[in-house]
Amino acid sequence: QKPTTGSVTWKSPSNIALVKYWGKKEHQIPANPSISFTLVDCATTTTLRYEKLAVIGDAFQFDLIFEGQPKASFKPKIETFFERIESYLPFLKEYHFTIETSNSFPHSSGIASSASGMSALALCLMSLEKSLKPEMSDTFFNQKASFLARLGSGSACRSIEGPLIQWGEHEETAGSSDLYGVAYPYEVHEVFKDFQDTILLVDKGEKQVSSSVGHNLMHDHPYAKNRFKQAHQHLTALQEVFKQGDLKRFIEIVESEALTLHAMMMTSLPYYILMKPNTLNIINSIWKYRKETESNICFTLDAGANVHVLYPKSEKHEVLGFIKKELAQYCQNQQYICDETGTGAKKL
Ligand code: PMV
Repeated sequence: QKPTTGSVTWKSPSNIALVKYWGKKEHQIPANPSISFTLVDCATTTTLRYEKLAVIGDAFQFDLIFEGQPKASFKPKIETFFERIESYLPFLKEYHFTIETSNSFPHSSGIASSASGMSALALCLMSLEKSLKPEMSDTFFNQKASFLARLGSGSACRSIEGPLIQWGEHEETAGSSDLYGVAYPYEVHEVFKDFQDTILLVDKGEKQVSSSVGHNLMHDHPYAKNRFKQAHQHLTALQEVFKQGDLKRFIEIVESEALTLHAMMMTSLPYYILMKPNTLNIINSIWKYRKETESNICFTLDAGANVHVLYPKSEKHEVLGFIKKELAQYCQNQQYICDETGTGAKKL
């Protein structure tokens, strides 16, 4: 018996990649494996209200409300998402949906909401699916939620669980898959269990080149083959790093990944630059601070100008002092967001 009406709410976090996913094949299959820290406070909360239709039509029926207002401009993205997942959730056209969604981070802060947003929606739809199939295990639920989220936005498949999620087939990682994210299966040193991420908001404007365009430019990219190989090598190297708590090597890999991601953008055709002068000012200040203090602070970047500052919790006091004193000046309106690694999405 299918439920006629009801609602479900999920809060799903963003994630920050340590080894970057950049480049994809058909059906949102990643060109290389990636790994990320799941965050806590940067999150999307989505309520899905569903009502069974008396007459089933051939179109998806849904309304979208973003931060309290109807938002027509988001509808095509959801429409595409529904088309991609319909064969895995055959009941979609039997319901009218109202999708109410809001983000914890400031609107247009330059923080990508696709990972948190698509994972939250995928989880809501999975809750409806579970009410149709109550025998479903939690493992299957999470795996399918990640699988569906991937079809909305690749990196979204890494937001279901935490704190360390790997996505993409990697010959040295048991159980890894191109189809969904899996919890990192090997030993992780204490130091990485409560890592901090302070996000410096350098540029809040909409970026000039979207991630989907960027992924596509990796086809025929002169350095693609080596880049994909490097991602595999970095993931293998990280296994020892996570086990030993080797922060020096961690920093080297994470910063190299961030700069390589942007190097791929600068060497594609057309080429482009998403970093801003203040992105570079921040990187230089971090390198100087690290030299002077032997701190284990490092940076990573998304496909944008904002900088994620990563550091062990034991250094929180000193690093936040440094950020306030030296790095805040490079942020728009001195704004930054303090976040940390967490365990994944929650049903509210
Ligand atoms: O999930 P997408 O298609 O928005 O791609 C995101 C890619 C990066 O954020 C740049 C890297 C990553 O692995 O998250």
